[in-house]
Amino acid sequence: MPTQSPSSSRTPTPGHPKSPRPSARLFRRLVESKLIGRLSYEDYREKVRAAYSGPKGALLVASSFISLHAPLGERLFHSQKFNLSGVRNVLDVGCGAGQIVKHLLKHGDPEIRVTCVDISTQMLRRARQRIHDQRPTWATADVTQLPFADESFDAVTCGYVLEHLPDIRDGLGELSRVLVPGGRMLLLITEDNFFGSWNSRLWHCRTHNRHELRETCQQLGLIWKQELWFTKMHEMFKAGGICVEVQKPAGKSG
Ligand SMILES: C[S@@+](CC[C@H](N)C(=O)[O-])C[C@H]1O[C@@H](n2cnc3c(N)ncnc32)[C@H](O)[C@@H]1O
Repeated sequence: MPTQSPSSSRTPTPGHPKSPRPSARLFRRLVESKLIGRLSYEDYREKVRAAYSGPKGALLVASSFISLHAPLGERLFHSQKFNLSGVRNVLDVGCGAGQIVKHLLKHGDPEIRVTCVDISTQMLRRARQRIHDQRPTWATADVTQLPFADESFDAVTCGYVLEHLPDIRDGLGELSRVLVPGGRMLLLITEDNFFGSWNSRLWHCRTHNRHELRETCQQLGLIWKQELWFTKMHEMFKAGGICVEVQKPAGKSG
């Protein structure tokens, strides 16, 4: 059960070398959604589920194209920035309309097994209608309580989901649990900047600071392997959020 700690990994310590400027902090305070800090996790999760199951979720594919995440996200796999070679069994958490699933099926091994999870059964239905491929399996579940045994997958992808948790450690810990030692995760997470603040307002999610997220991963024993960008422009404007490959150490179980 996720703990309610909306401030963890959110407010950079004053004096932290990467603390945002006061004007940026004010902007975020004005724009970002505060919903996650106001409700219990169960109530908040119901709101998130309802938002994605409803008309806003039906427009998710369109908004992924407008934000360029859907067309440009493919580059991560096509260019092997996130290398799928040798990956046989992958879990995509918060699959939404199947934006990442499509890339996994296209660029992964032809025999790749893809398991797709989402809290919204309606989103899973939309993904199945879009994907037209018999290979994926589908399950309704929460990222903090995955219905899989320890060390079930050799890779995990999770795009724009962990920002829907009061404490990101609950999700990261669970993703790590189902990953084999040495397995890799691709995480996309809303960042605490201009673009992220609007995303937070639109989807009632949190934003994360990449330096603090890196520290959190290290505290959980996860290796921060590489930060990725869809394009040079994304890197220049810090758009597209935090996109990072994280690895579970080879010797680490659970
Ligand atoms: C912004 S969409 C991302 C879709 C896709 N992964 C992508 O990268 O475009 C977020 C998805 O995460 C799902 N989601 C939100 N909270 C979740 C949770 N606690 N557990 C599992 N899925 C969740 C939502 O239902 C939604 O489909």
